[in-house]
Amino acid sequence: MSLNIVSLLPAVIDIAQQAGAIVMRHYAAPIHAETKANKIDLVTAADKEAELYIVAALKALAPTHHIVGEEGGAQGASLAEAEYLWFVDPIDGTTNFASKIPHFCTSIALTEKNRHPLLAVIYDPAKSELFTATKGGGTWMNGRPVHVTESMHLIDAVISSGFPTDRATNPDNNLREWAAIVPLIRGERRLGSAALDLAYVAAGRLDGFWEAGINPWDVMAGILLIEEAGGCVTDYAGEALPQRQDKGGYVATNGKIHSAFLEALTAARQG
Ligand code: IPD
Ligand code: CA
Repeated sequence: MSLNIVSLLPAVIDIAQQAGAIVMRHYAAPIHAETKANKIDLVTAADKEAELYIVAALKALAPTHHIVGEEGGAQGASLAEAEYLWFVDPIDGTTNFASKIPHFCTSIALTEKNRHPLLAVIYDPAKSELFTATKGGGTWMNGRPVHVTESMHLIDAVISSGFPTDRATNPDNNLREWAAIVPLIRGERRLGSAALDLAYVAAGRLDGFWEAGINPWDVMAGILLIEEAGGCVTDYAGEALPQRQDKGGYVATNGKIHSAFLEALTAARQG
């Protein structure tokens, strides 16, 4: 039986907004952060409580689907049997959240088994901004259609990026790329939430974004938002479907600056 994606959207929006309410309740109180893989990789009680809520709600909504959550890993129906997958990041931008910087979001995406995204919901609870897309249905922000920017040249572009949490020990830590790209563009940003960076490219606020070593729950919703808003997402080599890897390198732009950006990035990585 084929899935009616559009009819699922209101329920997923409600789940993301309920999760946002959980996150903002924690945000209003003192926040204690624990560490995960290293001393700068954080998790808080809010990440855990919001993910438990989202996963329970998705299981009730779609019991035959597989769910991948940042904090809880593989959940729901088994991957082998499920035709559809959900990717859930309860808080993208946990470092901002723990520092009380109001820039973080909940990101939920539904994909086909081959990881082609079908439905995307990103909710920023501190600004009450909701970004949604369904395949073929365009990208919407708070109920209005949005599109990528018209910038044609890198020197007119505002581009964001991020650095891996293992940057102290990993030589592929984006510092070479950052140093090479910054002089070529109008503005550089490190906003601290890859999912919102992608939503901002889709909404025409940023012209582009790049980052390596990214997890699928950080990007799966943002990829669909950008595709449906007229932009382009590839890996660092310009190949489509970077989300087939578990830790991928992503270049996301308005499409018009994509080749120039890839050229600059490749030169930076070789130089
Ligand atoms: C992180 C944010 C950050 C990006 C990191 C991600 P998290 O996600 O998206 O902007 O640079 O690569 O891990 O840990 O806050 O969910
Ligand atoms: Ca997270």
